[in-house]
Amino acid sequence: MTRILSGIKPTGHLTLGNYLGALRRWVDEDQHQAEALFCVVDLHALTVEHDPARVRRLSRQAATLMLAAGLDPARCTVFVQSHVDEHARLSYLLECVAVDGEMRRMIQYKEKSARARSAGQGVRLSLLTYPVLMAADILAYRADEVPVGDDQAQHVELTRDLAERFNQRYGRTFVVPKATHPAVAARVMDLQNPLDKMGKSHEATAGIIYLLDEPDAIARKLRRAVTDSEPGVSYDREARPGVANLLEILSSCTGELPEKLAEAYDGGGALKAAVAEAVVELLRPLRARHAELSADQGFVDGVLREGAARARAVARPTVDAAYAAIGLLPPA
Ligand code: TYM
Repeated sequence: MTRILSGIKPTGHLTLGNYLGALRRWVDEDQHQAEALFCVVDLHALTVEHDPARVRRLSRQAATLMLAAGLDPARCTVFVQSHVDEHARLSYLLECVAVDGEMRRMIQYKEKSARARSAGQGVRLSLLTYPVLMAADILAYRADEVPVGDDQAQHVELTRDLAERFNQRYGRTFVVPKATHPAVAARVMDLQNPLDKMGKSHEATAGIIYLLDEPDAIARKLRRAVTDSEPGVSYDREARPGVANLLEILSSCTGELPEKLAEAYDGGGALKAAVAEAVVELLRPLRARHAELSADQGFVDGVLREGAARARAVARPTVDAAYAAIGLLPPA
């Protein structure tokens, strides 16, 4: 059976991008079709300036939202990365396979290190090695597929390289995984700056729809979305990124192709209103379920405890095999 692994980093409140690019597919498809594991990758949240209490709060919130969105612990494994030591254990071995040049070439490293420098902060070494830990997340489980948004494609490509290199040098240990992306909304853009990804850790929040936003906040953000001065509605990602983003969001909500939807609206105002209605309806059940689950933290904690035990049992044999393969003496 195909095995799937993916994760979300608790660096901010989850956004519509996280939902349309990743989480919704985990719920609607992956957990039904494969042996699936989903984690809150909290160790990754320590790679940039962070507030310990906030990371803890956001980790619990992310797990609660994953369940509220419909991940079913009877069908898949939901856990927190730091609860399973195998991730950090394997990450070190992979650091001995990776070279620094390939880390420095990562787009996200370039962007985030530049941001840290311009804020006068040091660039944490863990930001450079971030993709190695992500590779460990995936390879420890011998995952075949990694369902992610477009922005993670380069990291999964690197994961493939590291798996192949390790297998070649030390004997076949890892499965070489592949990324899968949704057909539309693989990169939801910021509503205020449609050339930039809608990112949960961005400081300017007017262009970001959060999964827990109230309906009127969603409608307001969409009403104010930046488009262009062209008349009418047409789907052209290059020339009309703002309009294209709205069409893709609507397409992802309704299942209709963006090109088709463009024909149905003659003005930006009507399009924005339709997107607002579709997004509010899409998120309504999730918000309601989140409110219920938030009142039952014992349930969420129980899911995470059991999830970590299951994840550990899957990861340990592979990580132990990697330790042996690379030349470490097994404990007597
Ligand atoms: P993160 O936490 O930034 O995002 C979680 C998932 O949401 C997708 N995503 C988007 N999709 C479409 N449009 C957007 N605007 C958008 N923003 C985010 C991401 O592609 C991702 O699928 N490095 C990863 C977390 C990670 C991971 C892993 C993922 C760590 N280890 C192992 C898969 C497997 C990250 O920062 O995702």
